Amino acid sequence: MKTQVCIIGGGPSGLMLSQLLHLKGIETVVLERQSREYVLSRIRAGVLENGFVKLMREAQCGDRMDREGEIHDGFFIAHDEKMNRIDLHKYSGGNSVMVYGQTELTRDLYEARDRMNGIVIHNAEDVQPHDLKSQAPYVTYRVGDKTDRIDCDFVIGADGFHGVSRKSIPQDVLKEYEKVYPFGWLGVLSRTPPVSPELIYAKHARGFALCSLRSQILSRYYIQVPLSDRVEDWSDEAFWAELKRRLPKEVADKLITGDSIEKSIAPLRSFVAEPMRYGNLFLAGDAAHIVPPTGARGLNTAGSDIYYLYQGMVAHYLKGDSSGLDNYSEKALARVWKAQRFSWLLTTMLHTFPDSMAYDQKLQETEFNYLFSSESAQRSLAENYVGLPF
Ligand code: PHB
Repeated sequence: MKTQVCIIGGGPSGLMLSQLLHLKGIETVVLERQSREYVLSRIRAGVLENGFVKLMREAQCGDRMDREGEIHDGFFIAHDEKMNRIDLHKYSGGNSVMVYGQTELTRDLYEARDRMNGIVIHNAEDVQPHDLKSQAPYVTYRVGDKTDRIDCDFVIGADGFHGVSRKSIPQDVLKEYEKVYPFGWLGVLSRTPPVSPELIYAKHARGFALCSLRSQILSRYYIQVPLSDRVEDWSDEAFWAELKRRLPKEVADKLITGDSIEKSIAPLRSFVAEPMRYGNLFLAGDAAHIVPPTGARGLNTAGSDIYYLYQGMVAHYLKGDSSGLDNYSEKALARVWKAQRFSWLLTTMLHTFPDSMAYDQKLQETEFNYLFSSESAQRSLAENYVGLPF
């Protein structure tokens, strides 16, 4: 098979790019290792920055998001029985975020690809890009016992942290930066009304907690847990009891609990791979960078990669101008590192670190106190949370 852009990875990044390029008359094929059902069963964060929301609309995928998503103008950071509100609207110059689950967004992107007869090949195993430094790269893969090959101009590696794309860049070219945090997040999804109309991030000596939501009948809660904990160690009852301990009493008293419909532990990691381009391979999203979920930057940072690639490809194919592709890595990484900084800052400020020294604890408290004593600090937090400009 022949196409212009072969996209490895059928998550939101790959599907979004495929959809945007299709609307400009650029051909793509998407290869996905898993089944569609599997992709749509993954539970991920649910806070979209305005830039991402606009991209969904540009991709003609924004209708359900605009109907069902919730605009949030602020969120809370709870500490010591006190609820401190970050006014996103006020401090970001009128901006806000959209609460809409990544699972639903991915479903909308799949439906759009179906509507336009986009090619998405599922259950593609042994995916391997070849000849990336040449003008004629290709990707081989196998479905069942049939192997095939896609010839293309460009390969997009949107296949996540464990995907094959980043691993196809020679070791002496790639530089990886990584920070692993000494804890994870235990997350529970429950069919219960959210405890608060706005998100609550809670800083507590027993560990961080987060109250989030997918809709007015679907809640998502998290608590910080040691890396040694396993999901089986946590009954629903134990989870709710621990969550309540970490929330201000007025919030804990209002919390409506129920059976978990999903429960999982995610380790927290910061990671960046440089460069994001190798020959005619371009990395996007988790394939190139990971953030801890604290600042809700994961999908949003993938969104700016996709935007830059979209612009670069359109200029290349429609105007013969390759400058956008040539400076993709540099431009994408500049924003990626700012998202890394913000996610690290928020993670460091809000979590309890098992072996931290008294000095570090004092600094952490001071960082927190400074935030709520300074409008400039709140402005900085708000500006990053709603998303820096692309
Ligand atoms: C979520 O709703 O799953 C969520 C929201 C905000 C975060 C992380 C996760 O910072």
